[in-house]
Amino acid sequence: MTSKNAAPPDLSVTIAGLRLQNPVIAASGTFGYGREYAGIIDVSRLGGICTKGLTLNPRQGNTGIRLWETPSGLLNSIGLENPGIPAFIENELPHLRALGPAVIANLSGSTVEEYAEGAALLNASSVDMIELNISCPNVKAGGMTFGLNPEAAASVTAPVRRALTGKPLMVKLSPNAPDLAAVARACINAGADALSLVNTFKAMAIDVQKRRPVFDNISAGLSGPAIKPIALRMVWELCRELKPAVPIIGFGGIAGANDALEFLMAGAAAIQVGSATFAHPATMIEIIDGIADYMRRCGIAKLEDIAIRG
Ligand SMILES: Cc1cc2nc3c(=O)[nH]c(=O)nc-3n(C[C@H](O)[C@H](O)[C@H](O)COP(=O)(O)O)c2cc1C
Repeated sequence: MTSKNAAPPDLSVTIAGLRLQNPVIAASGTFGYGREYAGIIDVSRLGGICTKGLTLNPRQGNTGIRLWETPSGLLNSIGLENPGIPAFIENELPHLRALGPAVIANLSGSTVEEYAEGAALLNASSVDMIELNISCPNVKAGGMTFGLNPEAAASVTAPVRRALTGKPLMVKLSPNAPDLAAVARACINAGADALSLVNTFKAMAIDVQKRRPVFDNISAGLSGPAIKPIALRMVWELCRELKPAVPIIGFGGIAGANDALEFLMAGAAAIQVGSATFAHPATMIEIIDGIADYMRRCGIAKLEDIAIRG
């Protein structure tokens, strides 16, 4: 065990050349552009912030009900509502940048051309990293359709990689892919520097009073504690299957330090927190403190030593 006077544990991680002060990142679509939470928690303590999914042009998002709670989970059908990349860069990025944590732009699109054009704009901005979203289940064109098979995933990863000169590229995978490892390998071969998983699971709900599906799109994406054991299993397997290895950012249902530690032990280089922030805005801060406490108690000096080997 470490003595009381030992140096504080080092929570910093480096993902594809980008240094984060700790491994806790706000998940896309659950933290806006940082504004909403800036008065509630000390946002500067986070490792990173992933923006809401950004598309080249503004999107209104889906009609009808967009959020629906389930036992231990949340269904969403937002449909990538966002102001468009040029407006994000002009109106949101300066404020987001000033908050302190690394800024990760979540990039989405309907066509390969749209993704590549969006990537070029973000490449010229001050964002630190791109998270390529090929896993959104809530849009009719693009989104998850690119993330379900290896060829489609590579067809968008490669041009986005070419558009990025000097910024790291992380690809966000869909848990709905029939062969996740094959999609992951295709993304790495096409130039991904890191992978993040999971996005939401395709799911649905029916309003029995109205006798019709809750969502106008019929299906929606399931997140929250309900998905955690499945997401953890996927991260564990991918960390062991992938050769060559790239850093894997693991998440899905993380709601406390213990959950975060499970993903780090499974082999994740960092974690993201999404739905839990809605229920309890201080979740990420408590996770950062909880990981540090655990390392102190167990005498672990460096975060990378937490992973279970083999
Ligand atoms: C309301 C809502 C909006 C989301 N929007 C996006 C998005 O724009 N882009 C994206 O890649 N993921 C989006 N996600 C998925 C989350 O980033 C995350 O992958 C997923 O919710 C699993 O993590 P969690 O269980 O901690 O919420 C969204 C999730 C929710 C709940």
